[in-house]
Order: sequence, then C-alpha cells, then structure tokens
Amino acid sequence: DANDLGKGTYPYYMIKEIDEQPAVMRKLIQQYQNENGDLEINESVLSEIKESDRVYIIACGTSYNAGWVGKQLIERITGTPTEVHLASEFAYNTPLLTKKPFFIFLSQSGETADSRQVLVQVNKAGYPSLTLTNVPGSTLSREAKHTLLLHAGPEIAVASTKAYTAQIAVLAILAECVAKYNGVDSPLDVAHELGIIANAIETVIDDHEIFERLSVTHLSTSKNAFYIGRGIDYYVVMEAALKLKEVSYVQAEGWASGELKHGTIALIEDNTPVISIITDKVSGPHTRGNAHEVISRGANSMIISMEGLDRQEDAYVLPKVHDLLTPLISVIPTQLIAYYTALHRGNDVDKPRNLAKSVTVE
Ligand code: G6P
Repeated sequence: DANDLGKGTYPYYMIKEIDEQPAVMRKLIQQYQNENGDLEINESVLSEIKESDRVYIIACGTSYNAGWVGKQLIERITGTPTEVHLASEFAYNTPLLTKKPFFIFLSQSGETADSRQVLVQVNKAGYPSLTLTNVPGSTLSREAKHTLLLHAGPEIAVASTKAYTAQIAVLAILAECVAKYNGVDSPLDVAHELGIIANAIETVIDDHEIFERLSVTHLSTSKNAFYIGRGIDYYVVMEAALKLKEVSYVQAEGWASGELKHGTIALIEDNTPVISIITDKVSGPHTRGNAHEVISRGANSMIISMEGLDRQEDAYVLPKVHDLLTPLISVIPTQLIAYYTALHRGNDVDKPRNLAKSVTVE
C-alpha cells in the first residue's frame, strides 16, 4: 500500500523514525536559527513567558514524559518555576493556579482530546498558551495562541520516538530564547549542543546490535522489566518503560532508583531484567549502588551510562553530551530495546494492539 512506500528499505516505521532523529536535530537547528545564526522565537511568546510567574506543561503519553525533561530545561535555563500535568488529570482535578500562568501544550498530533479539553478551559479563562506540535494546522495549534513546530516529519509508528526527542529539543531552544530575552545567561549554547547530539545519536544507533542482543538475551521471554534512574534519568526511564510496554507488551516500569528500597525491590528475582540509566553526575553513584543491590538479588542487569562517569567496564557508554540534554541521547538505547524486543516477540511493531496514534476521545 501507499504507506509501505514511505518505509523505503526499513521493515517498520518505528526503526525508520528512530534513525531519522539525527536529521531532525539538524533540521531544528536550521529552522530556529535566524540569518545571524542565533536561535530565534517569536517575541510575543517570549514576552508572555517573561511576564508569567509559572509555566504549566500539559500533555499525555510520551509527550507527557517529554514534558518532565522540559520542566528541568525551563527551570534550569530560565529560572521560571514549571509544573507538568497529565491532561486527563488536570481537566477534572485542576490544581490551584498562580496569578499569571503560561500554558504549554505538548502534542505530536495536535489532536489529543484530553489535551484539547484543558486548552478549551485555558482559553475560557483567558490565559496565554503555546502548542508544540508536529502537525501544522492541527486542532491544538489552531486553538492555542502560539505554535512552535517540531519539524520531525510525519510520525507513522504508533509508538512515538522522534517526536519525543524533537519536543525536548524545541523546549531547549525555547528555554534558551526566553533566557536571552530575560537577560539571563544561558548555561549552554543549545544550537551547538544539538549539533553534538545529532552526531552522538548516530554513534548510538550504529551500536544497534548491542541492544538487539540485549533484547534477545534479557527481554524476549521475560514477563516484566524495570528501568531505574534518578533526576533527569528518572524522567527518561519513565519514557523507556512506556515504550517497552507499548510495543513489546512486556510489563515494564520506570522507577526513581532511590525508591527501590522503599518497596519495589520486592519484585526482583532471578533473571529479572533491570536496566539502569546513569548520566547524572550527582546522583549517578547512588543509582550505581542500586544496580548492585538488584544484581545481588539475581537481576539480569544492563547499565547505560554517560562517558566520563562511573566505573564503566560493565556499562554501555553513551557519547558525552551536555548535562542538561542527556535525555536526547540516553533515550536512544531504550527506543532500540523496545523495537528489537517487539520484533523478536513477533509483534506488529508499528501497530501495537489496543493503541491508536492519536486519541480523540476523552
Ligand atoms: C496516544 C499515542 C501516544 C502519544 C499520546 C499523546 O496515546 O499512542 O504515542 O504519546 O497519544 O499524543 P500526542 O499526539 O498528544 O502527543
């Protein structure tokens, strides 16, 4: 069918879309740079964020997981307090808002009904809003005051990959532009760092056989699996677990690794797969300690850590990227693990059971 043509030589859209991420990073730099090579975003967006006292990020699914990384970026780069909410919760259980909220809707499709329901309330209250979406002219784009596009190209696989990394990259670009507009020194040069990340993603994708092997040895027959991490790595393990669940149907959870001892370690038995992500300098040694605790209880462990951190002989080492942007690189192995696990289990990778690409009912 016509859709198959779009896959080229790839067996599934999901792996094609994973592979497209370096190009998406490069495209975003180009799309958001002005003729002087500086990142630029519509000034009225920047002035509204400057005037606001808090940013509220609203999203569902993978976009929600990207929102947590966005919170970290906005808070660390601009100093503006930021909250992240599931649209389906916010709509019916609205938190107390500050006096001058600014709303950011994250939605690959721009059509998610739960998110739209919140936007309708936000518009009724007269609060300013911005949608980050991959689809120009989509409902959330039309109904929000402002739009920033993800420029990721059509995402066909139900499981979102390149839209997640594009959302994080656009949020980083936005945060840097807000910082500059506010006269705050940005701790990083986002355009430069995204260029480094594009190359780093290529390096990790070149190692895909490592993750395919891990999928076969650790995950092709197991009933469950766990990802652990702290800080920014915790945000990534939430997405890693969601991706694995969606396409492989392995019951997976992403844990803040400090919480293991408060209950969840009870689930670890012989050969339970546990994948640790360690890119955070400060908390990394603690997660390493947690990995040893699960190994001593029989877990089948894999450690994914950032170059320069940790003793690394037993880890897959990610190429070094800026501390604030490590999710853009640490998520790549987890996308590949989800893909290969689904593939080796014989699942329909692009169209997992019971799922839809965009959910237009509340
Ligand atoms: C559906 C998709 C998910 C996606 C979520 C939010 O559940 O299956 O992959 O993350 O909707 O979609 P959105 O288009 O709003 O980002």
